[in-house]
Amino acid sequence: QAPIRIGVAGLGNVGATLVRILQKDGAELTRKLGRNLEVVAVAARSRSRDRGIDISGLTWFDDPVALAKWDGIDLFVELIGGEDGPAFAAVKAALEIGRPVVTANKALLAKHGVTLARMAEESGAQLGFEAAVAGGIPVIKTLREGLGSARIAKVFGIMNGTCNYILTRMGNEGITFADCLKDAQALGYAEADPTFDVEGFDTAHKLSILATLCFGYEIAPDKIRVEGISRITQHDIKVAAELGYKIKLLGIAERTSDGIEQRVHPTFVPKGSAVAGVDGVMNAVALETDHVHELLLAGPGAGGPPTASSVLSDILDIARGTRVPPLGVPSAELLPYRDAPDRAH
Ligand code: HSE
Repeated sequence: QAPIRIGVAGLGNVGATLVRILQKDGAELTRKLGRNLEVVAVAARSRSRDRGIDISGLTWFDDPVALAKWDGIDLFVELIGGEDGPAFAAVKAALEIGRPVVTANKALLAKHGVTLARMAEESGAQLGFEAAVAGGIPVIKTLREGLGSARIAKVFGIMNGTCNYILTRMGNEGITFADCLKDAQALGYAEADPTFDVEGFDTAHKLSILATLCFGYEIAPDKIRVEGISRITQHDIKVAAELGYKIKLLGIAERTSDGIEQRVHPTFVPKGSAVAGVDGVMNAVALETDHVHELLLAGPGAGGPPTASSVLSDILDIARGTRVPPLGVPSAELLPYRDAPDRAH
C-alpha cells in the first residue's frame, strides 16, 4: 500500500517528540500497520532552532495553512496550540478539503470543537484528538468507542499534570508554589502561558470536551465555574493532611435534574481514595456509569512522550481506516447546553 505522508505543524516539545518517534520507530510501525508512515513536511516558527531531530530532508513551510492544504500530505497534525489564529485556520483548511487531522489542542476544541466536528462530518475527514485530554491516557477512545450503551452520570478527575505535579511536590517536599511551577515548566509539562494551568482554564477546556463526549451536549467551557490552585498555600495542604485529605485540582461534570453541572476547583479528597493516590504529573479520569459503575483511567497526563504517543495512536487509527464521529455522536444530535444551578461546592 502507498505510504501515509504526514505534515506536522508546530515543533515544540510534543511536535519534536512525535517526529523523533516516527523517525526512530518507523520500521516497527510499518510492520504493525502494513503501511509506511512518513513525516514528509513540517511547519514551525524557527527553522534553525535545535530540537534534537533531523528535519533537513523534510519540506519546510513557514505557513501552517499552506502545509495543511499542500497536496504532498495525506494527514495533517496540528501541534501549534492556541484557540484561534494559525491553529484554527490550518485545521479548518485541512478539514475543508477532506484531509484527516490529528490535534492535541484542547483550547481550540473547547472553543471550536462543534464547528470543526461539523466540518469533518461534511467533508468525510477524520478528526483525532486523543492527546487533547489527559496526555497519554486513552480516555477519548474509551468514550468514543468503548462504553457501548452505558449511561454516564458523572465524569471527574485530575486533568492537569502541571497542577498535580505542583500540589504533589508542595505536599511531599514543602517546596514553594513558584519553585514547583518553574520545575514543571522546565520539564515541558506547562502551557506556554502557565496561567492556563494554574488558574484551572486548561482543566476547564478538557472537562468541557469530556462532558460533550459523556453527555452528548454542546461543548460549553463558559458554563464552568473555575477556580485554580494559585492561592493554595503550604498551610492549606498541612490542614488537609491533618484532617486525612489531600488537595487535588478536580474537573467535575455531572448530570443533574436541572442540566449538566460542570466545575473546576481545588478539592479535599480522602487520603485512601483512588484519585488521592494519583500523584506527580499523572492524570486520572473517573467515570460513573450505570453498567460499569466506577471506572478510573490513570496515567501520565502531560509531557512530550505520553502526549506524542496519543497523537500517534490517532494517526494509526486513521491509517487503519477506523471511523467514528468526532464527538462520539453526529454533531447534529448534540443537545444544546442548559444552565445548571449555581451550587456551592
Ligand atoms: N499543560 C498541560 C498539563 C499539558 O499540565 O496537563 C497537557 O495537556
